[in-house]
Amino acid sequence: MLTFDILLATHVLGVVWWVGGVAMVTATLLPIFNGLPPPERLQRIRQLEHRFAHQARAAVMLVGITGFWMLGLSGGLARLQFAHGWWIDLMLLVWVLFSAMLFVAEPLRLPARLGLIHKPRAFLALHAVLLVLALAAIAGGVTGARGGF
Ligand code: HEM
Repeated sequence: MLTFDILLATHVLGVVWWVGGVAMVTATLLPIFNGLPPPERLQRIRQLEHRFAHQARAAVMLVGITGFWMLGLSGGLARLQFAHGWWIDLMLLVWVLFSAMLFVAEPLRLPARLGLIHKPRAFLALHAVLLVLALAAIAGGVTGARGGF
């Protein structure tokens, strides 16, 4: 089905754009920034946010639109039942978590208000947890889509 294939390719490109960026931030940039004096660290994080947050929002929206569209074409909400494969539920969970971070927590500056941004280890740990969940959704999706579970 051509429509489904195009949606799937777009979905996966969106995932690469978004989760690849999260991996770069988590495994490379934040550890580098954590070695800087606090004011400079904060400035770098803000610069990074300014550049990457818009891209991440666009990619998350692309992944959501294509994901729900494919779901509609391939069985609808019934596919969310665990019996049909928990991996789509995991994708949905990851998407909801990142959407909450990008569209609610960040615009409201919650990480700064809660002091989380000032705790280098906790801030890095939060990103690491989200990255692991996103990677699990990718591995689960690729394996599950081929009947692996
Ligand atoms: C609103 C959220 C999402 C929905 C509704 C959704 C739904 C879907 C659907 C229906 C498919 C096609 C499965 C099939 O071939 O039958 C799919 C594929 C895929 N999704 Fe998602 N998805 C969502 C978010 C995500 C997220 C957050 C990730 C990863 C971080 C992800 C990674 C993938 C991957 C890698 C595939 C390709 C599987 C393959 O190898 O064919 N999705 N998704």
